[in-house]
Amino acid sequence: MANHKTTSGAVAAAPELLIRIDRAAAPGLRAQVERELREAIRTGRLPAGAELPSTRALASDLGISRGIVVEAFEQLLAEGYLSARRGSGTMVAPGRIAADRGKEAVPKSAAEPARTSVRYDFRPSVPDTSTFPRRAWHKSLRRVLATAPPAALDYPDPRGTRALREALSSYLNRVRGTAAVPERMVMCNGFTQGFRLVCSVLKQRGARAVATEDPSHEEQRAAIRAAGLRVVAVPVDDKGVVVERLERTAASAILVTPAHQFPTGAVLAPQRRAALLAWATRRQGFVIEDDYDAEYRYDRDPIGSLQGVAPERVVYIGSASKTLAPALRLGWLVAPVELLKDLARIKEMEDRGSPGIEQLAFADFLECGELDRHLRRMRRIYRRRRDLLAKALRTHLPRHRVFGIAAGLNLMLELPAGADEEVIAAAAAAHSVHVGGVQRYCVRPNTSPALILGYGMLRESAIAEGIRRLAAVLDSR
Ligand SMILES: Cc1ncc(COP(=O)(O)O)c(C=O)c1O
Repeated sequence: MANHKTTSGAVAAAPELLIRIDRAAAPGLRAQVERELREAIRTGRLPAGAELPSTRALASDLGISRGIVVEAFEQLLAEGYLSARRGSGTMVAPGRIAADRGKEAVPKSAAEPARTSVRYDFRPSVPDTSTFPRRAWHKSLRRVLATAPPAALDYPDPRGTRALREALSSYLNRVRGTAAVPERMVMCNGFTQGFRLVCSVLKQRGARAVATEDPSHEEQRAAIRAAGLRVVAVPVDDKGVVVERLERTAASAILVTPAHQFPTGAVLAPQRRAALLAWATRRQGFVIEDDYDAEYRYDRDPIGSLQGVAPERVVYIGSASKTLAPALRLGWLVAPVELLKDLARIKEMEDRGSPGIEQLAFADFLECGELDRHLRRMRRIYRRRRDLLAKALRTHLPRHRVFGIAAGLNLMLELPAGADEEVIAAAAAAHSVHVGGVQRYCVRPNTSPALILGYGMLRESAIAEGIRRLAAVLDSR
């Protein structure tokens, strides 16, 4: 059997193949092998282009003579199910298969639209994945694989690998001012899973409603509803979430982005921070702190986490999606003691813990100071992009106010009253400029129209031209 190349260019070993035969049953063995292979191809279990094991390997796996397998292959070659090329073995022929069945039924995720085809991509929420520190990450992975004992490959502690909870808690205490200890941490698959776990625990404890900022991500509201809870939308102004409005609701928990409100960029003002924590104490409720991009701040003082001030009333959720890459799916919770056991239990029930090797690699990466190094580098890069974007906006759109510029990877550009964000976004897209409006994040459509401009993905050379094109679109309205 010839080895074949994988999508990453590696040479793969001969594939295994599940085939069931019954030596006692009619029809004979050859017919059974043929039928099993045909069925696997028809149902898409063996897709077009899939390599088959060699006749020798398959015969040996099935404990039958090689001649039977050779005959079965020849029959399927004749029927057009298989094709054989000299030097590359036997594979499933294109065109005969049902493997594409159902592809259309799989919804595309929001992150999936072809980012590469957009020349001026101002979509928010995505860091520059081309700057991922591959070499340092690779070193950490290699070190971990070389040194981790066999026990490290057993089922992990559902709260996460101890080494990572230790490294991460000291990183968070140092950089984000949390009051984290390894015992209070639960590693999870991104913020997304962490928040779902929190919603499930709150529901089990009898909560009825969870509040979110308005505007905020629709997916977060969907997660609240999916847990059987009601969503309460609390408005946001330039000082962050309006706590007075929260006090009038029945919610016993609220999800907030205090360091850099998403998507407006507002920072939760000191009085509001105090009021929010006072509300949580009075209500014996919880503040769920989404600390998704706080490491990126350029010209403002650092803002410590709320969790560090009230660790028994705040559930802190962090993520490597902005600092490193969303594909890592690395997230973490620092939880009040009251919720800890239930969070760990639900995490165990959901998936028995997050992938252990990646956790160990992340621990090594943190301990070597690689995250600090990467963030120092990225802060410089993003600050330059932010400065160029601010300059381009001043030059081409001087009458439009800009918010949330001091931190994060996106800012908000105010549009004239009555402007239609969707129409503007469509017109900009026709000029290869991809922007989105704020209304899509709003529950109540009373926020004045604005565009959210992300600069995480933008090349420096594209910023001025992208904004010049956007200005031309806005001027022509
Ligand atoms: C407001 C906000 N919170 C959290 C996240 C991170 O989510 P996750 O860690 O699941 O990738 C994002 C990513 O886009 C975000 O925009």
